[in-house]
Amino acid sequence: MSSKTLYGPFKQLLTMNGLPLKGPLKDEQLEIITNAGIVIQDGKILDLGSYSDLKNIHPDSEKKFNNNSEQIALPSFIDCHTHICWGGNRVNDYSMRVAGKSYLEIAASGGGISDTVTETRKASEDKLVELILDRAKQHLQRGITTIEVKSGYGLNLEDELKMLWAIKKANEKTPVRLISTFLGAHIKPKDFDGSHGEYLDFLLQEVVPIIVEEKLATRADIFVEEGAFDIDVARIYAKNLKLKGFDITMHVDQFHPGGSKLAIEEGCVSADHLEFTDDESCELFGRSETVAVALPGASLGLGMQFTPCRKLLDNNACVAIATDWNPGSAPMGDLTTQAAILGASEKLTIAETLAGITFRAARALRIEGGILRKGDDASFTVFETDDFRNIFYQQGQLKPSATVMNEQSFEF
Ligand code: NIG
Ligand code: FE
Repeated sequence: MSSKTLYGPFKQLLTMNGLPLKGPLKDEQLEIITNAGIVIQDGKILDLGSYSDLKNIHPDSEKKFNNNSEQIALPSFIDCHTHICWGGNRVNDYSMRVAGKSYLEIAASGGGISDTVTETRKASEDKLVELILDRAKQHLQRGITTIEVKSGYGLNLEDELKMLWAIKKANEKTPVRLISTFLGAHIKPKDFDGSHGEYLDFLLQEVVPIIVEEKLATRADIFVEEGAFDIDVARIYAKNLKLKGFDITMHVDQFHPGGSKLAIEEGCVSADHLEFTDDESCELFGRSETVAVALPGASLGLGMQFTPCRKLLDNNACVAIATDWNPGSAPMGDLTTQAAILGASEKLTIAETLAGITFRAARALRIEGGILRKGDDASFTVFETDDFRNIFYQQGQLKPSATVMNEQSFEF
């Protein structure tokens, strides 16, 4: 019989169990077990409940974290939208933006994403692995144990594959779960000789078959925006990728409305950004299975309005929150800080904000996770506080003291 570990006692154990996938949530709906413990065996939750009961039921268990500190535990967080595989930096863009140039103007004058493409093409696969691992480690210390990572700074056969291999190899070296997404359709690269439609055809014919064969990604993304791809070509691309079995997600409505309708019509697993989503699309989200992913780090990075999360939730949408961590629009990468600021601005309950970075983020990736129940994979994060609400009240300044993943525990 393999060994058991009893973690706790926790003043509060927040399970996120029994909550609806879509729509508004009240804090009173949260299941909070007081003076609680969690028993782990073989990387799974064997039992959870009252600490003193668990101590009696599992007397043979090894005890961890019973150090008299006031602590709470909750499911570890999921960052369902990032671009953490990149080379170089965009501090020049940043200084131009704060001096008044817009993101789209910088892109139109040849900077922006193209700049990171140049730097990422220069980086070796090993270098990219190292950069991803460093960023994944920072995220683990923030309580995040699942990270979606996009390609999209290679934009040719060789460099898109290099990025996807780097994500796959980094995944083997970090305890954090990395989920890769093919974003060859980020923009049409400067050196591609042909139309936007022809570039997407090139991706479908030359790059996607290798991704399928080498099992490098089962998800694909496209940036639908002025200066990136228009709705007509994006629709054809999405339909083709769906036929090949990909889950589709899209960057939409970041600067102009419209793209989210396409994402919903094409049955995307998620539609992300949504800063300019209109009322009609908010209603459509409520009637669809497409998760609306807010990216407050991009609003903060570009000094722009937030995604209308309150309206989306009140229309019964499933709303997730992610960092969009990337060198251009969202260089911060701190999920709880960003979620706290979004929540304060959009008037989200703490339950809605927490759902957005746990089980609703899992839904955006179509994975299990973000809930603590018997039989589930063990993945929880511990904060030294007596009240879980302090995570957002302190606007990200309260950091986790430990994260447990399967058999491993990490103390910070
Ligand atoms: O999610 N909007 C498109 N793509 C990324 C930004 C990438 C970049 O600026 O490097 C985003 O904001
Ligand atoms: Fe993004």
